Amino acid sequence: MKTLLLVLAGSAGLGSLLFQGQVSGRNDDRAEPGTLPVEEIRARLEAPGAHEPFVPEAPLGIRSDLAALIPPDNPLTPAKVELGRQLYFDKRLSRDGTVSCATCHDPARGWTDIARVSTGIDGQLGGRSAPTVINRVLGKTQFWDGRAASLEEQALGPIGNPIEMGFSPEEAAKRLSAIEGYRIQFEAVFGEGPTPDGIAKAIASFERTILSGGSKNDYFEQALPFFDWEPEEDEDPDFVARVDRILDLEKAHRMSASAERGRELFFGKAKCSACHVGEDLTDESFHNIGTGMDAENPDLGRFVVTGEEADQGAFRTPTLRNIAQTAPYMHDGSLRTLREVVEHYNKGGTKNAWLSEKIFPLGLTEQERQDVVRFMEEALTGTITDVEVPRLP
Ligand code: HEC
Ligand code: HEC
Repeated sequence: MKTLLLVLAGSAGLGSLLFQGQVSGRNDDRAEPGTLPVEEIRARLEAPGAHEPFVPEAPLGIRSDLAALIPPDNPLTPAKVELGRQLYFDKRLSRDGTVSCATCHDPARGWTDIARVSTGIDGQLGGRSAPTVINRVLGKTQFWDGRAASLEEQALGPIGNPIEMGFSPEEAAKRLSAIEGYRIQFEAVFGEGPTPDGIAKAIASFERTILSGGSKNDYFEQALPFFDWEPEEDEDPDFVARVDRILDLEKAHRMSASAERGRELFFGKAKCSACHVGEDLTDESFHNIGTGMDAENPDLGRFVVTGEEADQGAFRTPTLRNIAQTAPYMHDGSLRTLREVVEHYNKGGTKNAWLSEKIFPLGLTEQERQDVVRFMEEALTGTITDVEVPRLP
């Protein structure tokens, strides 16, 4: 048995305010109701700092000011994030008590379910593949089609979805109200017992702490301006020491020659960065790249939300961080490996009337295709916030 601590990067000391629990067996089987005593809940809620707002420290490569991305009406506090963590892993949020958020977005599987499409209550199959929930604080919209504007809005979706958790936020709040440990926490955090609004705010706050950065590509990008740099004679010695440190870090996390060639291609000849760009490798925008468009009844994606002709079959560009851990790929899980993904782009996507003009045959050689795969596999895998599966009230 292994015990992991929920580490809120950078908020030293805050991690210790959060509950500890045991990790064993399948991830979504670990969170057992009734394993967290009420006395322990009370003690933690009364600990100094439990209700102090904090901002998680951005890992290397995440340049956004995270403070600006946290809604003013829902600041993060250790007690709220902890409540959200419990709810995230609690199957009692589903009608029949068999499915939690973690069933489909499992920390042990890159925060996905590594299935083509997800299975909800009663073994029902959904129509789309579960995306990872890392770095969702950076997302301008939520879902493959961007239909939710905020994580608060998103969080109640799956609880009410008949084939995901098959419940309703109101029924879920009612069920939680019967559990003393939850009642106490909601009252301490939100000033009232469990409500759909509180559930959404707590889960969204927990999600905002799940960050990924510090990949080999991040170390490379940090060092890039200094590869050919020569200090002036009167250069500030502190600055020289800082540059040396950055170059040493890059050396310690250096990607292979193949991955580095893949990087060149990704940002050059293969044109991936026409859409996969910026700190989270996404333009946060919607494109039709043809996946699933040859199906009998294709998923029309963004079109269903906007009704705009140009959005037919368009989906939001996903992050490529930790992409090696989250196969299969695309909104329909139709591509099994990164190799298949690169083949898809190399042949110019799947032809259809709405294909993005940024998708065309790439003419990559066998070696070049391997290099692009290598870059994604090796250089985009970063460190994700270490989250321990909680004990539950
Ligand atoms: C049965 C599986 C399942 C369960 C349970 C589930 N999800 Fe999801 N989740 C999905 C699928 C599939 C999608 C993509 C749906 C879409 O885009 O239409 C998704 C999308 C998301 C997204 C959007 C990610 C992005 O990149 O836009 C977030 C965030 C998320 N889920 C969080 C949660 C939370 C929080 C819970 C628990 C309250 C939860 N999910 C429960 C399968 C599931
Ligand atoms: C026109 C914009 C665009 C370009 C150019 C592009 N992508 Fe994508 N990418 C997307 C969109 C949109 C999706 C999601 C499509 C879907 O689900 O049907 C996606 C999905 C992916 C996925 C699957 C992610 C997941 O979580 O399932 C990978 C991997 C990927 N792209 C890699 C690449 C690589 C490598 C290149 C360059 C060879 C590239 N992309 C070029 C827009 C683009």
